[in-house]
Amino acid sequence: MTGGADSVGRVIAEQFRAGGALVHICDVRADALAETLRANPGMTGTVANVGKPDDVGRVVREAERQFGDISVLVNNVGIAGPRAAIEDIPDEAWRETLDVNVGAMFQFMKRVVPAMKRHRHGAIINFSTGSTRTRLPMRTPYVVSKAAVESLTLNAARELGPFNVRCNAILPGMIDNDRMRRIVANIAQESGRAAEEVESDYLKYISLRSKVQPEDLAQTVLFLASDAAAKITGELLAVSGNVEWEI
Ligand SMILES: NC(=O)c1ccc[n+]([C@@H]2O[C@H](COP(=O)([O-])OP(=O)(O)OC[C@H]3O[C@@H](n4cnc5c(N)ncnc54)[C@H](O)[C@@H]3O)[C@@H](O)[C@H]2O)c1
Repeated sequence: MTGGADSVGRVIAEQFRAGGALVHICDVRADALAETLRANPGMTGTVANVGKPDDVGRVVREAERQFGDISVLVNNVGIAGPRAAIEDIPDEAWRETLDVNVGAMFQFMKRVVPAMKRHRHGAIINFSTGSTRTRLPMRTPYVVSKAAVESLTLNAARELGPFNVRCNAILPGMIDNDRMRRIVANIAQESGRAAEEVESDYLKYISLRSKVQPEDLAQTVLFLASDAAAKITGELLAVSGNVEWEI
């Protein structure tokens, strides 16, 4: 479980634990990781930057040392990347967004897939975004990285399906969390509007007119990891209230 110390990742990890699963998380923030592990006895974790392949290797080795082979991989980490016009995006920010958002998922998958294939059992759940459907000006590295996450997911579903290893992606909409509040606050500041106004503009184009709670996403992840989803692979599943458009 990547990015498990906070927000959506933490709720997912806690719900897996509540269902009796052995859960290993990783996060780049040591303090948040320590706090989450303190609050969840039995859960284990590693401080790691998933954008660094050596860190990914360390996370997988520590998880395997704790619990043995990994049967469910949840690739939750995704950074927002720069908010800028194409011509103003620094090369370093482009590379970092691609490395953290899709490179890391590949690095985790290549390390856990051999055991899953051996056991002929496994589930991989990757986090994309509803913005791959609407597209999002000024967020090119993010949208491109998440489109790549979807291709990685669909290609893996074909390649791994004959080994009974499933791979699906979740496309969240507007999550009710700090990160989305920061994005809304930035847009409000840039455009000289109130944050409430920016948020209500977002909600106009969400069919259910509501934000997604981390628990909504966790329920879907648990379902996709479970035997109830034994025949579900190669799906890009939006959990978003149906984001019709984004501005
Ligand atoms: N927030 C939204 O509204 C929204 C919308 C659509 C899609 N998503 C996607 O959903 C997923 C979860 O989003 P979130 O809002 O909970 O994320 P978040 O920004 O709150 O981060 C979640 C956790 O990931 C950790 N993290 C960040 N970079 C890391 C790195 N390099 N290595 C290891 N850990 C790292 C953070 O410390 C944090 O604990 C992401 O893939 C995101 O792109 C989010």
